[in-house]
Amino acid sequence: MQERLEDIAAAMVAGGKGLLAADESSGTIKKRFDAIHVESTENSRRDYREMMFRASDAMKNYISGVILYDETIRQKAADGTPLVEIIKAAGAIPGIKVDGGAKPLAGFPGDTVTEGLDGLRERLAEYYKLGARFAKWRGVIDIDSAKGVPSASSIGANCHALARYAALCQEAGIVPIVEPEVLMDGSHDINTCYDITRATLLKLYAELFAANVKLEGTILKPNMVIAGKASGKTSSAEEVAEKTLKLFRETVPLAVPGIAFLSGGQSDEQATANLNAMNAGGAQPWKLTFSYGRALQAAPQKAWGGKAENVAAGQAAFTHRARMNHLAALGKWQKGEEKTA
Ligand code: 13P
Repeated sequence: MQERLEDIAAAMVAGGKGLLAADESSGTIKKRFDAIHVESTENSRRDYREMMFRASDAMKNYISGVILYDETIRQKAADGTPLVEIIKAAGAIPGIKVDGGAKPLAGFPGDTVTEGLDGLRERLAEYYKLGARFAKWRGVIDIDSAKGVPSASSIGANCHALARYAALCQEAGIVPIVEPEVLMDGSHDINTCYDITRATLLKLYAELFAANVKLEGTILKPNMVIAGKASGKTSSAEEVAEKTLKLFRETVPLAVPGIAFLSGGQSDEQATANLNAMNAGGAQPWKLTFSYGRALQAAPQKAWGGKAENVAAGQAAFTHRARMNHLAALGKWQKGEEKTA
């Protein structure tokens, strides 16, 4: 496995591979399991994630790394093999979510700031020993223009925390994924998403420079520029690609090796089609790939439904979505490919 930060970061986005975000907190995975009527226990969470990590076609060919949760990085498969070893044996890199979640920002109703810096140096040292070579921290920026959300203070606080996290990761030999997510839940239009994401990325890179973070050893995990879900408008893949790429050219330095998108509540196929549209026009200054949670896992969760006899079906559903997103990361996806599941 690579050890230099820039080599790890390059491997995370190479060859049309992308990241599996399997780092749902216990509260979030419980919500996902509730939807498929599966009880969330230490063992059911393990069985579910083991199913994906043992889908060897997907893991070897389409997935460069997996973002784990604290519980999962310490768990063993049913046969006693550490889950981290299964991921590594497939040639993928283990990663870890290290933030403590978004909390209300005092003085700014409606805004949040992500917590978790206290004791982070010590936790990163432990995660390195457990095999993690990259980490994730998610800042959350909501849009509610009528209420003045987000405030400049919340963008500033989140980007400052992201920069302090990133510097601590690099000190520990871990590549930081910096994720300033502008939520797509609101009723805003695509141009408002553009403006808020622009303000966020400009602030983020100013803070990363100020914190002496080496950009070659980072990965950006952004939202796409897209209309809010409650706006009643669906942005076309062409418009998402055009506006997202224009924004990145204005704000993301060339030293950043790769951009791995979150799916953020887009449908499975929309997340794939939008990524494909961004890559279909040829090479960009950065690799553009996926770091999807929901858009990779909704299908396998449904196919599995908590039953051992459905493990093969769950793995097939996961492998299909991983292959679709791999093709999209290469700009080679076509709608007809969806039927080959
Ligand atoms: P979604 O793809 O479901 O948005 O999750 C990605 C992620 O890791 C958010 O932090």
